[in-house]
Amino acid sequence: MVQGNIFQDDIAEVIIEEEVLQQRIKELGAEISASYDERDDIIMVCILRGAIIFMADLARQINLSIKFDFMDVSSYGQDTNSSGVVRIIKDLEENIENRHVLIVEDIIDTGLTLKHVIEMLKTRNPASIKVVTLLDKPERRVEKQLAVDFNGFEIPDKFVVGYGLDYGEIYRNLPYIAVLKEERYS
Ligand code: IMP
Ligand code: MG
Repeated sequence: MVQGNIFQDDIAEVIIEEEVLQQRIKELGAEISASYDERDDIIMVCILRGAIIFMADLARQINLSIKFDFMDVSSYGQDTNSSGVVRIIKDLEENIENRHVLIVEDIIDTGLTLKHVIEMLKTRNPASIKVVTLLDKPERRVEKQLAVDFNGFEIPDKFVVGYGLDYGEIYRNLPYIAVLKEERYS
């Protein structure tokens, strides 16, 4: 059991500890930094809301001049299963034409959300689009062709919370990735 946390009675298992997350994010930052030219005009696009904590930590491990932008799309309500319906709730502020876009996602599950976002951003003629995701659930992938450039961790087909990820908008502020007790998912 997790001690000294307001959510401790809700958590069944911590699947990625805080130190492990931070170490991997350092590596991802180095990989991403090496993959661009330092003269590239790069915009990190955070997919709200789940990716904000990952983006905040990852950006500080990237040794390039980058700008931030935010996009809010929705494919889930209170449920844990993808509806396949993606709605744009907030679009980018920046014009991405001829600029390098790095999409920052919390988790890729079916891949439907990301596919839709990439297709839409492509029509705006960016110089490139790359994707970094903290977590990947390959077992659940519907969009088999989806190209993910940087991937933090592959995880099994379990619904996870923490480090930005929510269940019913709660648990985003846990500093690690965890699975909730069965009775909490209802
Ligand atoms: P996809 O369209 O099925 O790939 O769903 C991607 C989005 O669903 C992610 O950006 C998350 O917001 C949400 N999601 C998928 N799996 C989980 C999970 O295990 N925990 C929390 N949110 C999830
Ligand atoms: Mg999300």
